[in-house]
Amino acid sequence: MLTGKNIIIGITGSIAAYKAAYMIRGFIKKEVEVQAVITPFGKEFITPVTLSALTGKPVICDFFTANTGVWHSHVDIGLWADAMIIAPATASSIGKMANGIADNMLITTYLSMKAPVFIAPAMDMDMYAHPSTQRNLDLLKSYGNHIIEPASGFLASKLEGKGRMEEPDNIISIVENFFSRQQDLSKKRILITAGPTYEKIDPVRFIGNYSSGKMGYAIAEACANRGAEVFLISGPVNLTVKHPHIQVFKVESAEEMYRACLKYFPAMDAAVCCAAVADYRPKEKAGTKIKRKEEEWSISLIANRDIAAMLGSLKKAHQALVGFALETDHEYKNAADKLKKKNFDFIALNSLQDEGAGFQTDTNKITLLDAAGNRQDFPLKSKKEVAEDIVDKLSEELKKK
Ligand code: PMT
Repeated sequence: MLTGKNIIIGITGSIAAYKAAYMIRGFIKKEVEVQAVITPFGKEFITPVTLSALTGKPVICDFFTANTGVWHSHVDIGLWADAMIIAPATASSIGKMANGIADNMLITTYLSMKAPVFIAPAMDMDMYAHPSTQRNLDLLKSYGNHIIEPASGFLASKLEGKGRMEEPDNIISIVENFFSRQQDLSKKRILITAGPTYEKIDPVRFIGNYSSGKMGYAIAEACANRGAEVFLISGPVNLTVKHPHIQVFKVESAEEMYRACLKYFPAMDAAVCCAAVADYRPKEKAGTKIKRKEEEWSISLIANRDIAAMLGSLKKAHQALVGFALETDHEYKNAADKLKKKNFDFIALNSLQDEGAGFQTDTNKITLLDAAGNRQDFPLKSKKEVAEDIVDKLSEELKKK
């Protein structure tokens, strides 16, 4: 998977810089072309001679070579690379990257990168836990960088805690997995429902819910990034999609969503039902604005059709169906019942009991339950990362079909 890739290894001033040598050797063994870029402080911890002996190339540290005046273009190196890995990344370099302080070759190269960037922090546990470091890492994550969490263990300060740079072999595996799953859904067609539905009462009022569409749109982006052609059936939300392989079909009511799903599902390889579909709609829709009543006012409701259950009944052997369960109580039992009743291959349970999970937030906390009885619990993560976890499982299910 890594053969023939061009990778920049960025090394900053940390005692963990020696691990970069092992990492470079590991990548070279996998037939990767490596370019090392080092900060001036990085050179205090590992010599450019060691690095260039391993990569077979001069190490880049300065903007130009002093005796010849040869200019090193950070833009050209950025365009050459399939990925950049900054390992070890110190608190100082993390702060500079997060805030665009381009005062050395490594940071300017980082700012010029078009390819994915992996950042492996290495520092003392108190520096790592400091709110400014955490805020900078959150910023870097929000720019789309991949943070390789440091491990807990014995630190150079002789203290024990979280801050030790991840081991070179694990970093190589993370990058390898990234590239191997990059196009694992190519040629797959995936239908995704997202957002709420609005059930009209009259021309100015509706029954709705708090779904923002963030979770469903993140799944759509993750599937498209991994090569799928995505059909996104979206309720009313304030989101846009950027990926050219996502076709968006805007609907308003559960009935419209039902009809769109029925039309497209037969040609799909999979469907993910992430929408928060209203279970009921007003029995009658007033043509004009209903006037205020004196005392109580009641509306008769009738049940909407269950879209996921309909897809479950139509599902063919080659198709995978994924559902969600949004619960407030008896979470596992309710999710397991829905998994069975709607004929899902697996279901993502999210509970409103968990802080940061469910509607509107940028984060979610899920448990995946599958038809074979397996259960996987995940910590609170960004919806983008949750989407990747769900798509990993979907990709596995599709391989079994
Ligand atoms: O949009 P966000 O703000 O990011 O919030 C994300 C989310 C909380 C909406 C999402 O993570 C989620 O949980 N979506 C499903 C919400 C829901 O309606 O859950 P449910 O337990 O009521 O429904 C079970 C399953 O049946 C779901 O897959 C749902 O899409 C589907 N369903 C339900 C009713 C219906 N009439 N048709 C359906 O397809």
